[in-house]
Amino acid sequence: MPAGFQQLGGETVTGTLALSVFTAVLGSLEFGYNIGVINAPQKIIEENYNATWVHRYGQAIPAGTLTSLWSLSVAIFSIGGMLSSFCVGFVSEWLGRRKAMLINNLLAFMGGTLMGLSKVCRSFEMLILGRLVIGAYCGEAGIRLDPYVRGRDSANQSARGAGHAAPILGLEQLLGGEELWPILMGLTVLPTVLQMALLPFCPESPRFLYIVRCQEHHAKRGLRRLTGRQEVGDLLAEMKEEKRRMDMERKVSIAELFRSPLHRQPMVISILLQLSQQLSGINAIFYYSTSIFTKAGVQSPVYATIGAGVVNCAFTVVSLFLVERMGRRTLHMLGLGGMCVCAVVMTIALSLLDTVPAMSYVSMLSIFGFVAFFEVGPGPIPWFIVAELFSQGPRPAAMAVAGCSNWTANFIIGMGFQYVAELCGPYVFLIFAALLLFFLVFTFFRVPETRGKTFDQISANFHHASADDAMMDMDMELNKTSTELDYFGDESIN
Ligand SMILES: *[C@@H]1O[C@H](CO)[C@@H](O)[C@H](O)[C@H]1NC(C)=O
Repeated sequence: MPAGFQQLGGETVTGTLALSVFTAVLGSLEFGYNIGVINAPQKIIEENYNATWVHRYGQAIPAGTLTSLWSLSVAIFSIGGMLSSFCVGFVSEWLGRRKAMLINNLLAFMGGTLMGLSKVCRSFEMLILGRLVIGAYCGEAGIRLDPYVRGRDSANQSARGAGHAAPILGLEQLLGGEELWPILMGLTVLPTVLQMALLPFCPESPRFLYIVRCQEHHAKRGLRRLTGRQEVGDLLAEMKEEKRRMDMERKVSIAELFRSPLHRQPMVISILLQLSQQLSGINAIFYYSTSIFTKAGVQSPVYATIGAGVVNCAFTVVSLFLVERMGRRTLHMLGLGGMCVCAVVMTIALSLLDTVPAMSYVSMLSIFGFVAFFEVGPGPIPWFIVAELFSQGPRPAAMAVAGCSNWTANFIIGMGFQYVAELCGPYVFLIFAALLLFFLVFTFFRVPETRGKTFDQISANFHHASADDAMMDMDMELNKTSTELDYFGDESIN
């Protein structure tokens, strides 16, 4: 059971609560699934693109066109994610969390259907469009959007990890073969249907009802259902207190965020940390590992891909424990450093492969290490730090900017990796090693420890506290406590 569940005010876990968490994290499962699903069947689907091309134009597809089409199929997912991560705050405030999730499910349904039917319809455009739409779904459902429960981060992270086991299904013997890959792509509609079926039985987020809609009565009823208690006055009082504090702090727009000297430095840090997550090269592995290994001549590359998925799964759980016990900054540096070493080892192993066949095992192990260290640091930590660097006023804007940088970098890797890999061969990971080293140095010199600190203490690290700033820091100090009382919260998206 994810650690976060126990935090619910020491309450027992009711059926309704368990159901709500389960329903909500199905979205994260989809996120992990759709990141990894295109990895193993790359070659087979590329052959299908080629066949379609031959059917339409009577000639084989030019190699360059094929690379572009496949890169686009992989990367357009991030464009969808970016677009929807901008709309999500607005939509969920307008419709409520539950209806927003229902609507979002229609996207997943459309995306899955488009991808699943693309082969029958002989249209790679459908697959590409489907990836865009499913990306839009994941932008809302994926990273930090569990509207229901505290502990959502742990539950979400675990579900996302589980989704990364997708490459197992991508085995040629299972669904990754010539005939069945459309099912592999379309399978993403199953969790969607399940989520749609379960949502009506989940209560609307009480925090949303109270803080956004001011419906105290309905919020109370939701709290009762989720906790199984009749007396929920204490929880309501906490939300009241939080609302009071939120009302005290003005919302900050994105433009203001960049103009204000108070926010500039935390903003730069947040953006760079998001970049450190994506430019670490993790998605080069999740999207392309099968192809990297095939080209390098490793035997049974699909097993390396599956292994990476399984390691990822296991280490999301390990990271849940670490995050509660160690400092953010330490973990991030540990992760970056470990990934950097693994990238170098992998490069060496791949370049010695011709002379020393045993190197294929070393290269696999280094990929597993790379993924494991990712889940220790650059995977979870950047989101924690953004949330902890900003108080409630500027936090939504900061989160939007951070999300946008994240998706953009994700797109760049998905789109550009194959071209760079063609140029550099196995040495491509030295580029990531260099980037990782840069981010490690940056974190060492610039990123403050945020765990368990008040905004006051954090901003004392940024050496520009004027008298004005000191006043704001006091406000922030007040606000800090309220985020800890966030029982049903998605403070990140309002
Ligand atoms: C496309 O298919 C044809 C045979 O139909 C083959 O000769 C050609 O090598 C293939 N091209 C690519 C890029 O796979």
